[in-house]
Amino acid sequence: MANYELLARQLEALLDTRDWLTNAAQTCAFIMQEVPQLNWVGFYLQREPELLSLGPFQGKPACNPIPFDKGVCGAAARSRETQRVEDVHAVADHIACDADSRAELVIPILVAERVWGVLDLDSPFPERFGKEDQSGIESLAQVFVQASDLNQT
Ligand code: SME
Repeated sequence: MANYELLARQLEALLDTRDWLTNAAQTCAFIMQEVPQLNWVGFYLQREPELLSLGPFQGKPACNPIPFDKGVCGAAARSRETQRVEDVHAVADHIACDADSRAELVIPILVAERVWGVLDLDSPFPERFGKEDQSGIESLAQVFVQASDLNQT
C-alpha cells in the first residue's frame, strides 16, 4: 500500500508553479512513478460542454474525446463522484483504450461547481484500487487543484 500522506507532501513540494499544464504533467508522472501496479494515469479536460479531451498522461496513447455519456470517465464527470471499478470487464460501458486495463479509478475535478476534468488511473490488476487508494488518490488530486490556477487555458 502506498503511503499517500507522504506522497501528498512530496507532490506539494514538486508542484512549484501555478501553471496547471506543467502541474498536470508532473502529477501524472509522479503518480505513475510512485504508485505501484498502474498502466495508465492521466487527465481528461472539459474544454467544450459535456466532452472530455485528453490532457497530459503517462501510458499508451488513449481514447479521445470521451463524451459525458460514455465510459467510466463520462460517469465520473456526469455524477461528479469518484468511480472505482474493480473489474472493467464487468462494466458494459467501459471504454477499452489499453487492453491491459482491468481496474479503474476516475476522480472528478471540480472548480467552482464546474467539472474542470477528471483524473483517470488504470491498473492491469482486477481489484487493484481499494477504499484507501480512492481516498489517497483523491487527496493527491486535491493537491493538484490547490497548487494550480485552473482558470488559465
Ligand atoms: N477506460 C476509460 C477510458 C479512458 S482510458 O482508460 C485511458 C473509460 O471507460 O472512460
